[in-house]
Amino acid sequence: MNILVLGSGAREHAICWAIKKSPKCKNIFCIPGNSGISKVAKCFDFNPQEKKAIYKFCKKNKIDLVVVGPENLLEIGISDYLKKKFIPVFGPEKKASRLETSKLYAKKFLKRNNIPTGDYSEFSKIKESIKYISDRKPPYVIKVDGLASGKGVMICEDIDSAKNVLEDIFLKKKFGEAGKKIVIEEFLEGFEMSFFTFLDCSGSLDLGYALDHKKLFNDDRGPNTGGMGAFAPSKIVSKELLKKIKHQIILPTINSIKKEKIVYRGIIFFGLIITKNGPKVIEYNARFGDPECQTLLQRLDSDLLEILNATANDKVKNCRIKLSQDYSICVVLSSKGYPGKFGINKLIPNLEKVKDTKNINIFHAATIKKNEKYFSNGGRVLSITSRHKNYKKARENAYNYLKKINWKYGHYRDDIGEKNIK
Ligand code: AMP
Ligand code: GLY
Repeated sequence: MNILVLGSGAREHAICWAIKKSPKCKNIFCIPGNSGISKVAKCFDFNPQEKKAIYKFCKKNKIDLVVVGPENLLEIGISDYLKKKFIPVFGPEKKASRLETSKLYAKKFLKRNNIPTGDYSEFSKIKESIKYISDRKPPYVIKVDGLASGKGVMICEDIDSAKNVLEDIFLKKKFGEAGKKIVIEEFLEGFEMSFFTFLDCSGSLDLGYALDHKKLFNDDRGPNTGGMGAFAPSKIVSKELLKKIKHQIILPTINSIKKEKIVYRGIIFFGLIITKNGPKVIEYNARFGDPECQTLLQRLDSDLLEILNATANDKVKNCRIKLSQDYSICVVLSSKGYPGKFGINKLIPNLEKVKDTKNINIFHAATIKKNEKYFSNGGRVLSITSRHKNYKKARENAYNYLKKINWKYGHYRDDIGEKNIK
């Protein structure tokens, strides 16, 4: 088969790496990709939002399957466009993607289907929203309705910072159209977990879970990021908890999608908080998580391409999954300053010296190669991902690689997965 993957992060690197292992894979392309991805796929540096150009590329290269990485492409309807032209796509169409692209749509879906989630109210005006928070105690969880590159959720510890956030949204229009409407949600206490299920019109197939580390600094301090690391499996996730998640969240979601005749072909990412009253959904995403994807795919002992292709063609019910019991830990190396201001084009001198092995992958998120040297090209730069049957070894190996890379412009958390040891 000839495969095209759209996107340019470490998630897409992991997807390309896993697809490439399939005996069914003849050629793999990635648009736009990055210099790490180009080690496993042929990369073409043009804008994947150019639907017509993508279609032309598919025709020219006899593409059998397109795999969509990021949510912004789902939102602009890349899947709808290619499906209409009879190209199988892994990644839901625009309407189904609203489960991720509109927080309000998702909250209403959750509520009308009695799927556990936090209570919420919807607002489109500053006055009403300030009145609402004034009657309540902090912390306040304020979410803009639309996509905001992972920056649309604000947790405010006091009323003054909440008012500032509301002013940013409604008066300064910081989020543009995405902030026309907002959700103010009940603050949920507990630990977070990301769960993934492949879904199409024939059935579903659980991939499993990973624990993400959203905050920039150790001990979950500092600003929210796209994710600074992930690991799985974890001893804090018991069999009983997984059963609850299956029966209270996953099955009701899938049944409601079917009942509401939502056509979904792709992966659903359940963002969960495990509270003392059980698991609750804080968000749905219509794509793989980053860095969860790196961790999960490293442990996947099944043929990923078979599963993606089956899902795109409504045959997922025929697939089975083999996920290893080994541990996998992914530590993100970011540019210093991320998620705020950071420099790019910084040399990463030791990167050529460290090589992937059978159990350690250096997935590239934002690098560029010039004259045989790697330079940084974004906020999250590398995902060092390590698999081992011994948990401590998996961690140790990942951190040894980071020490070898020893990048002076970089930052990483050194407590990824520590919760599992404590
Ligand atoms: P999201 O962009 O929806 O993934 O949200 C970003 C982060 O905000 C999540 O990973 C949680 O840590 C936090 N969060 C979102 N909703 C809630 C909530 N209702 N209660 C507590 N934390 C939340
Ligand atoms: N790591 C969370 C996300 O991909 O949204």
